[in-house]
Amino acid sequence: MRIEFVQVDRTAPPAEGAVAVIAFEGGGLSTAAEDLDKATSGVLSRAVASGRFAGARGQSLELLAPAGLENARVAIIGLGARAEFGPEAAELFGAYAYQAVKVSGAATLTLPMPGSSAEEAARAAFGSRLASYRFDRYRTTEKADKKPSVATVLIAVDDPDAAAAAYAPLAALGDGIFFTRDLVSEPANILHPEEFARRVKALESLGLEVEILGEAEMAKLGMGSLLGVGQGSVRESQLAVIQWKGGGDAQPIAFVGKGVCFDTGGISIKPADGMEDMKWDMGGAGAVAGLMHVLASRKARANVVGILGLVENMPDGNAQRPGDIVTSMSGQTIEVINTDAEGRLVLADALWYCQERFKPQFMVDLATLTGAIIIALGNDYAGLFSNNDALSDNLLKAAKAEGEPLWRMPIPAAYEKQIDSMAADVKNTGGRPGGSITAALFLQRFVNGLPWAHLDIASTAWKKPSSVPILPEGATGYGVRLLNRMVADAYEG
Ligand code: BES
Ligand code: MN
Ligand code: ZN
Repeated sequence: MRIEFVQVDRTAPPAEGAVAVIAFEGGGLSTAAEDLDKATSGVLSRAVASGRFAGARGQSLELLAPAGLENARVAIIGLGARAEFGPEAAELFGAYAYQAVKVSGAATLTLPMPGSSAEEAARAAFGSRLASYRFDRYRTTEKADKKPSVATVLIAVDDPDAAAAAYAPLAALGDGIFFTRDLVSEPANILHPEEFARRVKALESLGLEVEILGEAEMAKLGMGSLLGVGQGSVRESQLAVIQWKGGGDAQPIAFVGKGVCFDTGGISIKPADGMEDMKWDMGGAGAVAGLMHVLASRKARANVVGILGLVENMPDGNAQRPGDIVTSMSGQTIEVINTDAEGRLVLADALWYCQERFKPQFMVDLATLTGAIIIALGNDYAGLFSNNDALSDNLLKAAKAEGEPLWRMPIPAAYEKQIDSMAADVKNTGGRPGGSITAALFLQRFVNGLPWAHLDIASTAWKKPSSVPILPEGATGYGVRLLNRMVADAYEG
């Protein structure tokens, strides 16, 4: 889908394709809606007055070929109170508008926004772009009339150049989010660790430096914890090391992602029902890859390292067994109680490698780590676990600003005993109580004192049928917006 910013002409409202305008709750049309109302001798105001439509957020009304605009289809989008209109509401407007007319047959959607700021216009464009995401690479027989028809979104504004300039960083952000959504949506027969690594390697064209370590190199480094997880797979485990050097000689900041391309559970095998969801168990690595994509595209003034632990967790004659003891790169030994608690085993070595090699200012890891975080927080919030208040506050602030809900969870030292092992230094499960917390405590044992935060995104990486139009059903790309914002606000000074 194409986005274009064009000059608005209030005396000649768009007479072709689909047009979307805003109605506010408690009455009142936007300026653009009033223009259309005049052009149609009051059809919009009569329509709004005639039924239950009240302008609430997410409500919409569609008018077909009203007299005066015979070739147009008009979508009236409810957006809540007029006083709450701003960039955030504008983004929703773009998303709801796209959703309302995407399969209508109209090839263009015009959003007239006279009087709106460049930022609001850019966010409306961004909202429609996010809503337009679709993973249809493998759909070969879908009928044309079921596919989205809208190919171009025209944002009609007072100052198209200013709006286009405000949109540029959002275009970069959108590209990164789509890169993540594509990775997460790909099935595991296509996106295995080596293919994931190849797609990340291709990001060198954006100016990133990418190294890929294979099993032999990881064995040399002593990564027995990560390698144990991939041991039952015919696919080779990979570690991707991505660097963006936009910050001179500043000490880097680092992001680490769990990239389990498929999680069967291993010998502690998962039940069949819903196991297909485990193709998105690489959502953390996907988000870190998408973040690096954004930072490079917008040439961020920061030094950033992204590390992805890429494995496949399979049952096999060569797979690791419950009770096995592995030695991590840190030297700590781990008793593998449950082979399905594999994400933490991958991250243990990825985190250690990251801090040993890069001595970063801080590390943030992202992982679809525990089912327990879904039980604790439901499907909108990700869990934040951290040893550092300043880092946590930066993450929470960014999460709020970008609309990616995040909630800080405790990591009490008293729960450590749940993961003490009789046979090794630590065990990889802590029982059902506080399952997400003991997982975080496990990770913390592989953090050497530096500021660290762990985002458990098992709850947010994938959306079941949803009412939020900027997140179509499927891969969300959760984390890319949040982390991009945190880097921009806290580390690019
Ligand atoms: N990848 C799963 C966590 C998960 C569950 C993500 C549901 C998304 C949706 C993880 O590897 C896992 O299996 N965790 C276990 C840990 C347990 C064995 C201690 C879990 O949550 O049940
Ligand atoms: Mn698992
Ligand atoms: Zn997993």
